[in-house]
Amino acid sequence: MPLLPVLEGLHSAEAFDPAFLQAFLDRVRRLEVDPDGFRDSLRGRIVATVFEEPSTRTRLSFEAAAHRLGAGVITVADPKTSSRAKGESLRDSARIIGGYADLIVWRHPCDGASRLAAQAAAVPVVNAGDGRLGHPTQTLVDLYTLNQAWGGFEGRTVGILGDLAFGRTARSLLWGLTLLGARVVALPAPGLDWEAGFEDRVAERAGYRTVRVSHPMFRSWTGSEEARLLEPRGVRQGTLFGDGPPRLERLDALYLTRLQEERGAVAERGVYPGLRPWQLEDPLLADCLFLHPLPRRGELPESVDEDRRARYFEQARNGPVVRAALFLALLRPDSWQLPPLVSLPAGSPEPDLGPCPNPGCITRSEGIRAPWRVAGRRHRVFLCAYCDTRIPVEYVGCRSSRRVHPLHSPAVLQIRPENLRPYRSRDEALADGYVWGGG
Ligand code: NCD
Repeated sequence: MPLLPVLEGLHSAEAFDPAFLQAFLDRVRRLEVDPDGFRDSLRGRIVATVFEEPSTRTRLSFEAAAHRLGAGVITVADPKTSSRAKGESLRDSARIIGGYADLIVWRHPCDGASRLAAQAAAVPVVNAGDGRLGHPTQTLVDLYTLNQAWGGFEGRTVGILGDLAFGRTARSLLWGLTLLGARVVALPAPGLDWEAGFEDRVAERAGYRTVRVSHPMFRSWTGSEEARLLEPRGVRQGTLFGDGPPRLERLDALYLTRLQEERGAVAERGVYPGLRPWQLEDPLLADCLFLHPLPRRGELPESVDEDRRARYFEQARNGPVVRAALFLALLRPDSWQLPPLVSLPAGSPEPDLGPCPNPGCITRSEGIRAPWRVAGRRHRVFLCAYCDTRIPVEYVGCRSSRRVHPLHSPAVLQIRPENLRPYRSRDEALADGYVWGGG
């Protein structure tokens, strides 16, 4: 199976694992208490920041982190001033910038851009937000902020509220929280939920299950009193009396997000959920920390800023130290070793399964083939290797037995990854000489 080059850097929160996260949060703490001990750790190195979308916190906190460690910084803050405006491909730009810097921090409007840039650049690329897909370093900031307050995640319940469909911070945070053992309540604004399959993929990886819980306040946010709670499988369920899902008694944190209008998100009937002053007195939120990646709009009123539960300015303040720790992990593994990130399969371009169905995918704007990867242990799914969108594969052949089965047949789970031969239709498989294996 032909493979693309291994991805270096950090592209997706899916690459985190519990050991990495625990060690990482610990290291950030060390850096925070002893900044002088690391002051010159990156002297002589150059970090490039390439921001093809607006940013205040993310770019400046990466740059502040680099300066604090003694690295030089080169930057493209406005893509209109770079060759990208003349139509240069992302791959060419990445290759060239990779020749000037030791690491590139890249923000891009397309899903999967960071993975593609990483394949072209000879240096690590760090995803500073790619389309609606991910923002893994924001997740590290969010987790660090919560860990400072709690000292651990088990037994904690976090609500993620708002535009889950287009919000990259929410998507990445779901990976991070579940990998650390927190329970998560998905609170999508009406019509703005995660795409089918995403939550299942995260739950399967973390060993979680989804149950339903209820609270009257949820109705003002999502339009329904019921919500999905993702929790570790081992957790003992409370006894159920009567009908309907159990009531959720408290939230330990609420992660608010804004409507991602620039990606086409629209609030149903013009109403977008947020925190309202009357909700602050409800026992559900009695000890609930309020987080927001910022910038905020009306969902988080300024009247909450002085509330003892507000943590969003602290979150923003944690940006530089968290990103400095990441620079050290990627550029000074000699002195700053951490458990490895999980490598995401870089994908296979063969066979050509047609264009990625996601119009926001980087393969569409760059006019290249969508490489695929396979995910899922209990149900195999075929995903675009750049943007994780499900590719419509309906049949799967085994290259060694030359038999083809329907995607959901148990026989498909027995096929070794290197022998998988995905097909969009059964006829294509039969035309290739595969025999029907049933299922
Ligand atoms: C977020 C982003 O860019 O995704 N901002 C940030 O990095 N702090 C969230 C947002 O823009 O809504």
